Amino acid sequence: MSSRLAANRLIVSSGHGGRGWLPPPLTLLADVVTPAEEARLAAQLDPPLRRRKYQRAHFDGVIEGYRELERPLGWFEPANRAALGRVLAAAFGPGPPPPLLPAHILELAPGAEGFIRPHVDHVGASGRTVAGLSLLSDAVMQLTHAQEPERTVWLLLRARSLYVLAGEARYEWRHEILPDLRLFPRALRTGLHDRADDKARRIAVVFRDELHAAEPSGPGARRAGAILADGSVV
Ligand code: OGA
Ligand code: MN
Repeated sequence: MSSRLAANRLIVSSGHGGRGWLPPPLTLLADVVTPAEEARLAAQLDPPLRRRKYQRAHFDGVIEGYRELERPLGWFEPANRAALGRVLAAAFGPGPPPPLLPAHILELAPGAEGFIRPHVDHVGASGRTVAGLSLLSDAVMQLTHAQEPERTVWLLLRARSLYVLAGEARYEWRHEILPDLRLFPRALRTGLHDRADDKARRIAVVFRDELHAAEPSGPGARRAGAILADGSVV
């Protein structure tokens, strides 16, 4: 895994150098949609998003400076549905995906206004996989182990990339979207210098599988639970 990380430098962990732990199993795929598909998705999502005002803080205190929608796959126009079908195959494997919640469309305000504090997605609300497609601009996701916060992993979420948090990464690590691209480790920001450091407007399309009856009592659920406003997990 580390050679792959070193090769593309989209995932960086504080454990490099042999501190004796591995990042959680993660998937981060670049260019899962084309620029034309990105533009078409954004064109369909833009009007309903713009009808909403940016909210200051999410009801649970985790998300700041955002507006959001939920839309079932059937709402998307056919070309967008086709692109999202490929995204789902990349996230969940070939064949029909598991039963999914409606897509969660989350727009973060540009600059430091829009960010997401450390949290574990509510284990009582969705299943073991969270898959997010990033559109329009790059952002930095930080993952921190819930019990051992010195274990930290940064993901550079490029526009048009897909991340998948499943199992350990979904239940035992907190994730957050940082307010500033400069927080991605400086030495590794090659390729970012041609962009503004400030985060630009970003839309994420996040897919979550439905909760299975067995999951709330599964091993992950015992170790990580609800989201608290201070980012802690109970
Ligand atoms: C969330 C979340 C990440 C993203 O909505 O719970 O973590 O990619 N979103 O915007
Ligand atoms: Mn989340």
